Amino acid sequence: MIDEQRVKETLKGVRDPELQKDLVELGMIRNIRIEDGKIRLTLALTTLRCPRKVHMVDKIKQVVGGLPGVSSVDVEITAMSADERNRLFPKHPLVGIEKVGHTLAVASGKGGVGKTTIAVNVALALVKQGKKVGLLDADVYGPSVPLMLGLSGQNPEMEHGMLIPVEKFGLKIMSFGMLLRENQAAIWRGPLVSRAITQLLGEVMWGELDYLIIDLPPGTGDPSITIAQAIPKMQVLMVTTPQEVALADVRRAIELFSKQKRQVLGFIENMSYFQCAHSAKHIDIFGHGGGKKLSQETGLPLLGAIPIDLEIGQGGDRGVPLMISSPTSDTARIFEDIAMKVGKQQ
Ligand SMILES: Nc1ncnc2c1ncn2[C@@H]1O[C@H](COP(=O)(O)OP(=O)(O)O)[C@@H](O)[C@H]1O
Ligand SMILES: [Mg+2]
Repeated sequence: MIDEQRVKETLKGVRDPELQKDLVELGMIRNIRIEDGKIRLTLALTTLRCPRKVHMVDKIKQVVGGLPGVSSVDVEITAMSADERNRLFPKHPLVGIEKVGHTLAVASGKGGVGKTTIAVNVALALVKQGKKVGLLDADVYGPSVPLMLGLSGQNPEMEHGMLIPVEKFGLKIMSFGMLLRENQAAIWRGPLVSRAITQLLGEVMWGELDYLIIDLPPGTGDPSITIAQAIPKMQVLMVTTPQEVALADVRRAIELFSKQKRQVLGFIENMSYFQCAHSAKHIDIFGHGGGKKLSQETGLPLLGAIPIDLEIGQGGDRGVPLMISSPTSDTARIFEDIAMKVGKQQ
């Protein structure tokens, strides 16, 4: 007869690849249920985003499924609480965002206004100024930082039960896009999204940073609220385009952050104008003066106006952002200027 004890004995043969201890000893095997040869159990991981979870589940199914009389093995996955994880790793070198100096969230009223472009290039401008910078792509609905930085297909490593950011262009990067399978992002909803974000904030070993830049999802939905609540000292950069419609969304977003008592540092107007190659004239393709108007209305500064720049679009597609491909261009200077203003406002 198969019983819980027998299942546990068998699972002592399965080790966590990182911790090099068996799953039972680590307290990862829970809630074993046996019914007519059907076995169900729960595997508690240090993080739901453990890159080795598929391998571990396969291994459990293999060894438990090999026991005589077992017809099926069902493994549910859950994550350990922070306390449980801390007990496993009593000497955590650095936990989550503890050693992060400033947290700057890049927000927008709606999608497609250039939020990721600005998050990436302002982050790189801060690196150029000698700062230690992390970039968290928290846009669960459309994480595009890996694409913009040429990191597609890269998976973060784990150490001490925490995720290690991937490094590129001097930035430490973590993205939902590296943790979810393709097309999985869009199906996340409500409470699930909030839980995933809260967990991720505590599960990345950022180490010491001067700035953590967060690319927020667009709008004023659950994810933005969750992040604002989780990081009391978070400051916000609002990205807008010059049109009226964009501005209404931006006002709503500002209201949201004010309610949460999070400081909005100012606006960045993107796709502000088109600089004609043959003259100094600015052409206002998407209208004019939106950022300025918002600034007057709210008393918050307009930190910069980014022109429509073909290099931005092309660089984004190639995985090389403008601050790297054209570091001395006029547009790069605008990003540097914004980074400097942000530094002064701290
Ligand atoms: N100032 C700009 N000039 C030219 N293209 C831009 C500019 N800002 C953004 N883009 C392009 O517009 C698209 C949307 O920008 P993105 O940063 O992904 O927006 P969001 O993150 O708000 O959805 C991208 O293809 C990007 O390369
Ligand atoms: Mg984006």
